[in-house]
Amino acid sequence: KIIILDFGSQTTQLIGRRVRELNTYCEIVPYNKFPHDDPSVIGVILSGSPFSVYDEKAFRMSLDGIRGRLPILGICYGAQFMAYTNGGTVEPAGTREYGRAHLEKFDAANPLLKGLEPSTQVWMSHGDTITSIPSNFKIIASTDKVAVAAYQAEGEQLWGVQFHPEVYHSVQGTELLRNFVVDICGSRQDWSAASFIESTVAALKEQLGDDKVVLGLSGGVDSSVAAVLLNKAIGKNLTCIFVDHGMLRKNEFANVLHDYECLGLNVIGVDASAEFFAELAGVTDPERKRKIIGKGFIDVFDREAHKIKDVKWLAQGTIYPDCIESLSITGTTIKSHHNVGGLPEKMNLKLCEPLRLLFKDEVRAVGRELGMPEHLIKRHPFPGPGLAVRILGDITPEKVAVLQNADDIFISALHEWGLYDQVWQAGAILLPVQSVGVMGDERTYERAVALRAVTSTDAMTADWAHLPYDFMAKVSNDIINKVKGVNRVCYDISSKPPATIEWE
Ligand code: XMP
Repeated sequence: KIIILDFGSQTTQLIGRRVRELNTYCEIVPYNKFPHDDPSVIGVILSGSPFSVYDEKAFRMSLDGIRGRLPILGICYGAQFMAYTNGGTVEPAGTREYGRAHLEKFDAANPLLKGLEPSTQVWMSHGDTITSIPSNFKIIASTDKVAVAAYQAEGEQLWGVQFHPEVYHSVQGTELLRNFVVDICGSRQDWSAASFIESTVAALKEQLGDDKVVLGLSGGVDSSVAAVLLNKAIGKNLTCIFVDHGMLRKNEFANVLHDYECLGLNVIGVDASAEFFAELAGVTDPERKRKIIGKGFIDVFDREAHKIKDVKWLAQGTIYPDCIESLSITGTTIKSHHNVGGLPEKMNLKLCEPLRLLFKDEVRAVGRELGMPEHLIKRHPFPGPGLAVRILGDITPEKVAVLQNADDIFISALHEWGLYDQVWQAGAILLPVQSVGVMGDERTYERAVALRAVTSTDAMTADWAHLPYDFMAKVSNDIINKVKGVNRVCYDISSKPPATIEWE
């Protein structure tokens, strides 16, 4: 495995994903938690950082026990850190060092740069620059503005690059990482969805034996893949519980339940919508809605799970980005962990998280390899509290039905027009306003619906999707003509930040 030491850069996870794309297993650990006693480590990557190496607060660590034993690649801060701590100088750079640059001169014979095209484009993003390197280091690449774009320590397996090979705009970044991970570190590139399934199924059999396991399904990719994987390992000892809180999409409960049954899962569908509607009556505050639904879910799940005898484990579809230990920078956590809502504590069960090591794209690949249908795998993210946070103001069954119909027209049209896979997430929002319209000879005074569709790669930032006007015209017409109670449709053109994806 490759270890990625995280110095707090926003692109650390991206480095991890790129390494995994090279069919190489890697782990991201805080910069000061290198696993010295793990014999399976074949190489180390030092990430970027929001700090300057000469900052008092900068994250520092010692490469003792690593340098000379394992190949090392420093990226951005990682490169500056190794140059600085070995006698080089690092100083503030001009703003010129942001963005696209081209490797004008480089040592094409260096193993790190093998196969790179002349003047290949790289992406620079740093406030500091290395102005001189230690005497035993050599420059192996420069751009017209950055003399030390990449270096190697003479006679050592230690490199630094000031640009970011992991980002899309570094056109041959993957080749550079491949040179490091495969040629230099000697990865066998045997990490794949198939190998993951094989080893995980074997490990789950060993871990769970004849124990009974319960798992909550949400209809989303992660919990569904976790269920199918566990089903392969322990079959009927796995019971899945799928709770309908009444805030799902139109027909979603029945459709997804059907999918699960076709996948051979032992699944209990619980329609608890009446309980949820009763609890939510009159509640308008978004965070209260979330709390009520979260608690209601735990109660229903707990009640159902207790009907199964001798359950020992609670399985969850937690994925790697939720587990990566976050660094606290100036007191604020930059990546927040998903909260699983106190379920394991309440139920006093042992926790089983078979997807704990996977990135989202790997979860999808595993799902495909397990033979799951594409529509389950490519499903857009959907918030746990569902339509409750897409109805602004109080919730009634009637409002949910109106929103479900509008949302269904929108989502079905995205499928029909071949646009569904081009957006990250989409849905309709029921606004707490009424406006005047005219239908035939009648004056109407009805609700407004907002449509939201965004493009994103991780939901941290998002842009509104530039959907075709013809498409929007058709969807708007269909909603107004077919959904009783709605006479106006708007399209949300806010990006995140400063807006969020959901309205509540
Ligand atoms: P925001 O609105 O914060 O959403 O831009 C980012 C992503 O998170 C989803 N989301 C939620 N998911 N429970 C969830 O399970 C929630 O309470 C919740 N709120 C937002 C949202 O749909 C988007 O994918």
